[in-house]
Amino acid sequence: MNVPGYRDVPVEPWDPAAPADPGEAEDFLRQCYTENPRLGPVEPRLAIVRAQIAATGTYVHTPDELTHGAKVAWRNASRCIGRLYWRSLVVLDRRRARTADEIYSLLVSHLQTAGNGQLRPVISVFAPAQPGRPYARVWNEQLIRYAGYRGADGCPVGDPRQEQFTAAMHGYGWRGKGEQFDVLPLAIETPDEGVRLYELPERALREVPLTHPEYGWFAELGLRWHAVPAISNMRLTIGGVHYPLAPFNGWYLGTEIGARNLADADRYDMLPVIADRLGLDTSRESTLWRDRALVELNRAVLHSFERAGVKMSDHHTESQRFLKHIENEERAGRRVPADWTWIVPPMSGGLTPVFHRYYDEMDLRPAFYLDEEAAALARDGCPVRRTR
Ligand code: ARG
Repeated sequence: MNVPGYRDVPVEPWDPAAPADPGEAEDFLRQCYTENPRLGPVEPRLAIVRAQIAATGTYVHTPDELTHGAKVAWRNASRCIGRLYWRSLVVLDRRRARTADEIYSLLVSHLQTAGNGQLRPVISVFAPAQPGRPYARVWNEQLIRYAGYRGADGCPVGDPRQEQFTAAMHGYGWRGKGEQFDVLPLAIETPDEGVRLYELPERALREVPLTHPEYGWFAELGLRWHAVPAISNMRLTIGGVHYPLAPFNGWYLGTEIGARNLADADRYDMLPVIADRLGLDTSRESTLWRDRALVELNRAVLHSFERAGVKMSDHHTESQRFLKHIENEERAGRRVPADWTWIVPPMSGGLTPVFHRYYDEMDLRPAFYLDEEAAALARDGCPVRRTR
C-alpha cells in the first residue's frame, strides 16, 4: 500500500493444532520478568515452562504473566490511537469458565466492570486454546452491535455491516424488532454445546441518544449509539499461547461513530439526510456539503456523550495523547508500532499532529489478531469452509 509510513506486515495464519512455540514463550517471559522486576528471576520460571511445553504441548500463564501479556498486546496494537493508557487495563482472568451460560454471565459482568459513564478499559481472558482441540468463541465482532435488515423496498434498516450476521441470527430463531438500533444477541459457541444465543440485559447496555448543541431537529433523526466499544473476536496471543476468546473494550473516539459508523455510505449513511436538514446545496460536491454535515454530526456525537456523562475522546485531544505515548515509550527504550492509515482520524486528518509524521509498522508480540475464520463468522454468522 502506498501510504506514507505504512508497510504491510505479513502475519502467518494461526495453526490451532500447533503446540506453543518455546522460543516465543521464552521471549515473552524474559520481557515480562525484565519489565516487572518484582516477579523475581526468570530462569527458574523458564525451566518450568520448557518442561510444561515438552510434556503437554503448552503451558499455563501465572496471573501476573497474563495481566502483563494482555497489557503489552494493547501496547503493541499498531492501529490503536488510545495506547497512552495501556498500563491501566483491567484484566479479568476468566480462564476457568467452560459453559456458554458461564461465559455469557461473565460477558455481562465485563460490560458492567467497563461501566456506563466513566468507562474503564477492560479485558476478559477466557480459556486458551489447547493445541488441536476445539475452543469456545464468540461469533460477534463486538459485544454490542446493531442489527441490519433490508426493508420491503430494498432500503437498508439498521447497520448494513451486520446484515449477513443478522440474517444468520434469524436462522437460529432470533427475531429483531426490525428497527434502526436493535442490539444483536450474543452468539456464544462452545465445544460441547455448539452455538447458543443470548440477549444482553438492560443493565449491560448503555446507549446515548444523539442531540445537537444548536439544532433542535437533530433529535428527530432518532440516532443513538452504544457507550462501549468491546471487540470480541480478536485472538490474544501471549508467549506462544493463544486466547481465542478475550474480549476487550476501551472508550469511543467521537469520529468512530460520527465519521464512520453513522457517516459511511455503506453504514448508516446519514450525511445526505443531515445536509438536507441543514438546507445545504447538495447539487455539487464543491459546496462541501458532505464536510459541513460531517462536522455537525460529529459535534452532535461529542455533545451527546458529554451531556450523558459517558466518556468519549475527540480526535484532537487523543492525537496529542498518542504523541505523548510515543514519547513515553521511546524514553523507556521501546519503539511504537503504528499504522498511519488507522492512527490518523477519518476527518480533519491534517489538523491533528499524528498526520504530520511517519510510523514504523512492526509485528510485536504479545498481540491481538483477527483470524480469517473469526472475521467470516462475525460477517456472515457462519464459518467459511475450511481449506485445511
Ligand atoms: N471503530 C469501532 C466501532 O466504531 C470500535 C473499535 C474500537 N474502538 C475503541 N475506541 N476502542 O465500533
